[in-house]
Amino acid sequence: MKRSLKLILGIILFAVALSGILVAAGTGMQQPSTPEVSYPEGYREWAHVRSAVITQQSSAFKRFGGLHHIYANPKALDGYRTGTFADGAALVFDVLEIQEKEGTLTEGTRRFVDVMLKDSKRFASTGGWGFEEFNGDSKSERTLTNPTKQCFQCHTAQKESSYVFSSLRK
Ligand code: HEC
Repeated sequence: MKRSLKLILGIILFAVALSGILVAAGTGMQQPSTPEVSYPEGYREWAHVRSAVITQQSSAFKRFGGLHHIYANPKALDGYRTGTFADGAALVFDVLEIQEKEGTLTEGTRRFVDVMLKDSKRFASTGGWGFEEFNGDSKSERTLTNPTKQCFQCHTAQKESSYVFSSLRK
């Protein structure tokens, strides 16, 4: 009796120790490959850079179709002016469906909010920019699986302009 009790105790202790090791290893491996970009709280009060409509005639319709607005926080606004975006600069690409009523087109349902956040250290592998997409009106539902492929690769076309497509209107 005593021996089997010791054996059971031994097995339990071993299992506890093993699970501790596994948890420790697990947290070590959980380092996300790309650091998170936080939701751009209050962006509709930032500077408005430009708006455009992507129609069904565009090859980009399925992915980016609708009405979009681009917003810049104060640091990003400086970036457009000087050509250099400092860490903390944030840009938003706000994509909305188009609603038509009695000949007037207005903003409909929000499709998603795309964000670029400058942090030259954290996002060194993607030109210093972190890319993120929030679904619809959600501030927490992130949709991207591979920001490098899904965002950065297309934005590299603008490498000469700090990976930013838009510019301030003169
Ligand atoms: C196929 C090319 C392409 C892909 C893929 C793409 N973008 Fe863009 N992005 C553009 C273009 C073109 C503009 C400029 C639109 C305008 O001027 O109206 C833009 C503009 C932006 C802007 C505003 C700043 C700027 O560069 O003008 C942000 C923010 C942005 N994109 C984020 C993202 C995010 C996040 C992703 C990934 C989900 C992404 N983009 C994927 C082409 C792309």
